[in-house]
Amino acid sequence: MQLISDNFNEVHDFILAWKRNEYKIGFVPTMGNLHRGHLSLIEQIKKSNVDKIIVSIFVNPRQFGPSEDYNNYPRTLIADSKKLADLDVDLLFCPNEQLMYPKQNLGEVKIDNNTLMADLCGINRVGHFNGVLLVVNKLFNLLQPDIVIFGQKDYQQYLIIKSMIENLFMPIELILSPIVRESDGLAMSSRNQYLNKNEREKAPLLYESLANISDAILKYPNKIQSILKKEVSILEKSGFNIEYLEIRHSDDLTPVENFHYSEKKYILLLAAKIGATRLIDNLIL
Ligand code: PAJ
Repeated sequence: MQLISDNFNEVHDFILAWKRNEYKIGFVPTMGNLHRGHLSLIEQIKKSNVDKIIVSIFVNPRQFGPSEDYNNYPRTLIADSKKLADLDVDLLFCPNEQLMYPKQNLGEVKIDNNTLMADLCGINRVGHFNGVLLVVNKLFNLLQPDIVIFGQKDYQQYLIIKSMIENLFMPIELILSPIVRESDGLAMSSRNQYLNKNEREKAPLLYESLANISDAILKYPNKIQSILKKEVSILEKSGFNIEYLEIRHSDDLTPVENFHYSEKKYILLLAAKIGATRLIDNLIL
């Protein structure tokens, strides 16, 4: 596996050679501190018959708010690169900040807001998705992938990237990969390691709640709001601070007025804080 951290020309040489050979390039963007969820994306993209796999690791400062965990975000490059080499990844691109965000005298292109970016996670994380799209756009332009993969864990992020690819006619195929969970149901996340023992014991309640809601809604489709309210109150009593717990249409995340399970696809989405740690999860119905 080739590791490139601070040289665009080297990256270009690889990409050009691969394009000349008409290799199909698969790309998995990450912020590192790789767990089984991340690694499942690599296993998944291999099924699409890619010839070369690129993984990027970059803790993108532009997607963290001023009071968020950018400085503390776990950086474990040596362990990460070993895991990627074991999975036969061809190129690990781990650029430094200077390389991704060089000083621009003429200012910087901004990716503007839209409805989806200001909703759900965008309400409390103002500017987060602008930062995500900016870095993903830069990475796509640089690495010219034919196929990219994103996790359902960050479903809103996936949809926003899908809309960017479609809106800008990017010649890129996009895959959504299922959520990988711990054995007790907690969705894997680099942020789980911030949890203390007590918080970690409570954290699986989030997925439990989503599963309870899913069962109850299918039985009592007219009672969505009271079902959601009940689970919010149960989670709050366990010490969670609920940012949102909602049911939305899974194709565009618009709110649900009337629930017609047989006709439409829905998704339950949850963001909650326990202590200082913010966790998200979701369940496609
Ligand atoms: P990061 O949080 O490192 O996640 C990288 C990819 O792994 C994302 O597509 C995410 O949805 C997926 N992922 C995380 N946890 C997962 C789990 N438990 N199961 C399955 N997939 C999981 O998302 C980002 O980084 C950044 O915003 C990025 C897209 C790299 C832009 O900076």
